[in-house]
Amino acid sequence: MNVAILGLAWGDEAKAAVAHRMAPDFDFVIRTSGGSNCGHTIYDNGKKYVHHLLPCLDFNFKNTKAFLGSGMVVSLEELLAEITEINKSFDSIGNRIIIDPDAFIVTKFHKRMDAQTNSHIGTTNKGIGPTYSDKTARRGIRINHLLRNLDCTGLLSHLATLEEINEYIAELKTIVSKLVDSGVQFIPSLAMKDEFLRSKLLFEGAQGALLSLEHGSFPYVTSSDCTVSGAYASGFNFLKIDKIYGITKCYVTKVGEGPFPTEIFGKACLNLQTKGNEIGSTTGRLRRCGWLDLPALKYACDKSGVTDLIVTKLDILEGMDQVTVCQNYDHEPTSGFDFFEANRHFSSVHGWKHRYDHNIDKFLTMIESHTGKKVSHYTYGVERRDMIEFK
Ligand code: IMP
Ligand code: MG
Repeated sequence: MNVAILGLAWGDEAKAAVAHRMAPDFDFVIRTSGGSNCGHTIYDNGKKYVHHLLPCLDFNFKNTKAFLGSGMVVSLEELLAEITEINKSFDSIGNRIIIDPDAFIVTKFHKRMDAQTNSHIGTTNKGIGPTYSDKTARRGIRINHLLRNLDCTGLLSHLATLEEINEYIAELKTIVSKLVDSGVQFIPSLAMKDEFLRSKLLFEGAQGALLSLEHGSFPYVTSSDCTVSGAYASGFNFLKIDKIYGITKCYVTKVGEGPFPTEIFGKACLNLQTKGNEIGSTTGRLRRCGWLDLPALKYACDKSGVTDLIVTKLDILEGMDQVTVCQNYDHEPTSGFDFFEANRHFSSVHGWKHRYDHNIDKFLTMIESHTGKKVSHYTYGVERRDMIEFK
């Protein structure tokens, strides 16, 4: 069975921890969109790892491999650094990484441009927007350009001088050689079709539906589609994703600018930031915090094609007498624009005191009846044992 894990808000739903827990049951964990704008935090026996480009497999389990799909935008420098870092804890992980050579390359020129032009969006400055813009403008380069020794200068000439480009292309080719030396392979998804069809695949989404270029709160979005279409668009239309887990925290956070209907301020916000460790793992910015937004959650479920829900970080709200939830807006959101002018209505439900508190059942049942989706699990802590089945 093939499974996807997708974020249902503005990223940081703690998807990575879910992927990491599920990964040992799969042959491949696959990233299909975005780049190093993600900060995917996982905990393994008390140790913390942050992945930016690599899927969150559990490297303790040697049978699972990583695949980076063609829909991604990859900074080769950052990829090499990430592999080098993780190799300090695990042996030769390069041998378990396969990259589709049709993925686009985020060059240092794209990062420079991001910092110069996108600050009003509050981007991560990882060059994501400029790289995807070039892709749709039929410029920029794919890894295949390097592997096939194709002339790239014309495709980058709007970004730098000829001399800078040639020097940089030589650097990139050296990095590709180092990646190959470390065991990384470059193989298109289609060339792996037979193996993929025999395998169990876990698609790990990046960011969340409300940051999706197609369906999010435009223009305060990232530059890729964070829904299940993003996964298929990476060259996987030859197979079916059977189960799509949508991930939501039991409250909401956001980094960067843009609308946030259930945002809270002051002490209540500080409390969540502190208890929930709500600091951007890519940018180090404090995350904006707010209450669970049921209309936005339903919107995200429907836009993403979710079949099941996983609700995360319930331990963070432990001990509150009442938990606030946004029940509805004046009008049910049906477009990303509806989050800018949401006239929202809150109510509160009883809080919980421990991981098996009956009030958690009531809270999750409320989410199920609002979204029409079954909650399969919830998380209460960061370790593998803290993901609890909800029946
Ligand atoms: P970009 O993806 O760097 O272009 O940033 C666009 C918007 O998406 C900004 O508001 C970022 O803060 C946000 N963003 C991008 N990636 C992530 C992520 O992995 N988690 C949370 N927010 C993100
Ligand atoms: Mg994150």
